[in-house]
Amino acid sequence: MTKARILSGVQPTGNLHLGNYLGAIKNWVDFQRDFENFFCVVDLHAITVPHDPQVLAHDTRTIAALYLACGIDLQYSTIFVQSHICAHSELAWLLNCITPLNWLERMIQYKEKAIKQGDNVSVGLLDYPVLMAADILLYDADKVPVGEDQKQHLELTRDLVIRTNDRFGSPEKPIFKMPEPLILKEGARVMSLSDGTAKMSKSDPSEMSRINLLDPPDVIAKKIKKTKTDPIKGLTFDDPTRPECHNLLTLYRLLSKQSKESVARECENMGWGQFKPLLSETVVSSLAPIQQRYQELMSEPTYLQDVLSQGKDKATAVADRTLARVQDALGFLRP
Ligand code: AMP
Ligand code: TRP
Repeated sequence: MTKARILSGVQPTGNLHLGNYLGAIKNWVDFQRDFENFFCVVDLHAITVPHDPQVLAHDTRTIAALYLACGIDLQYSTIFVQSHICAHSELAWLLNCITPLNWLERMIQYKEKAIKQGDNVSVGLLDYPVLMAADILLYDADKVPVGEDQKQHLELTRDLVIRTNDRFGSPEKPIFKMPEPLILKEGARVMSLSDGTAKMSKSDPSEMSRINLLDPPDVIAKKIKKTKTDPIKGLTFDDPTRPECHNLLTLYRLLSKQSKESVARECENMGWGQFKPLLSETVVSSLAPIQQRYQELMSEPTYLQDVLSQGKDKATAVADRTLARVQDALGFLRP
């Protein structure tokens, strides 16, 4: 039996944080054996907001190395760079001409990011979800594992499948396969260390709000020591008046691979003075093997280059076939 296919990606904008890891990459790693997987570094998405050309290539390599360091296994998965495969931009253009403008104007992430950009909003930022739809549809992905914040983009992708298939395909010969989001409850929304009601994010101006996968142990300890808490002794999950408490217990639970019940029991009488060092230790020891493997990978650049070059070949073969199928359906003259 052929395995169902997965596609997902992360933008190469600086470092990855615990939200990216627990909300996305850790899940990719955990179930990669059951699927045929394509994981891309979405560098074309990274330029939808002003970017620094001096660091884009470096950040792209960093994310690819982190995929491997976190446990993505090339036996089950293909890793590639989005811009290495021309079909992504080409399909995005074709989809642009099928996508109603008002679908894009209502995207929450667009509105949030556009407010931050002031009057410097690019057409690319508005078009971001269409490029993401192209990423997914080119690979006929069955499932797309992402964090909660990407749900609306997935819904737009699904709407585009219906619209394109209705207009240019037929029930017997659909053009695109319908993808499903794969959003796990736990870890899908890791919150900021400085505000338990805001999501941990790369774009938060404060470094203290997030733990990056490559933060050294002393930095992790310092960030956790300074994290926002409350004066209540005894730590509990699911108290709506204590969002920070829920978030930190969840981080501890996910990284120490324990059940919620066992953490709830362990921490019910603990104060922050006891819990914070425990959480620091857990974060540091969970990230240590990832950091070590990352350093090894970055010191052998030709290996990483080979991985990405093989990824490019594998991804191109699949993507070009889909693109040709769409071009045919839309009536383009074959070269
Ligand atoms: P991004 O950093 O926006 O490129 O996101 C990469 C992946 O990480 C996506 O699947 C996001 O949904 C996921 N993600 C980002 N921030 C968080 C967070 N705070 N909690 C859980 N998942 C997240
Ligand atoms: N928009 C996603 C994010 O910010 C990244 C992304 C781009 C993606 N293309 C994708 C995720 C395709 C899944 C599938 O997190």
